[in-house]
Amino acid sequence: LPAAAAALVLGYLLGSIPFGLLLTRLAGAGDIRTIGSGNIGATNVLRTGRKGLAAATLLLDAFKGTAAVLIAPVIVGGGPGGHLLALLAGLGAFLGHVFPVWLRFRGGKGVATFIGVLIGVSPLVAVGFGLVWLAAAYTTRYSSVGGLSASAATPLLLWAAGLTPDAVLFAVLALLLWTKHAANLKRLMAGTESKIGHKAAAPG
Ligand code: G3P
Repeated sequence: LPAAAAALVLGYLLGSIPFGLLLTRLAGAGDIRTIGSGNIGATNVLRTGRKGLAAATLLLDAFKGTAAVLIAPVIVGGGPGGHLLALLAGLGAFLGHVFPVWLRFRGGKGVATFIGVLIGVSPLVAVGFGLVWLAAAYTTRYSSVGGLSASAATPLLLWAAGLTPDAVLFAVLALLLWTKHAANLKRLMAGTESKIGHKAAAPG
């Protein structure tokens, strides 16, 4: 149990680094929480017009998830339970990103960190996630629809690949991700969600 707790905490600490907020602040682009949707993720950083910052946010928010999954079993101790420790670290990273203690638990919506954890768990299914994201976002022009679709497909893909515990974890993560997209879902129904390439978005 101490190893499980350590993996969870290690993941959480990594996941709670709010790269979108830090990078935009360091670049003098203001407080990302007062721009567009107010979210700290790459999609909203793109609304500042700074494509490089948005790309860096996407990469780093994903990377912290991958890092948690890959290093937890090494630091905490691998062995036969190593994969379970990796999954717990991934859970921790996702929770850290979505509920960071440093931002009074008001973090991001989880798409980048979701795929980062997935890369660490199954690179092949991560490619599947990427394809679903691209197809959905390309056809609708909504980043949120990409993340919502790809996250919903992930547990099914993992289950089809025979990775049952992983599928269960990602079903939980997808549920949290959908919950965090409540405002996006509302805007999508109302037809007011902002499309990729547009700068404005209603707060939330
Ligand atoms: O990845 C977050 C995306 O799905 C929605 O972001 O800023 O449009 O709410 P945003």
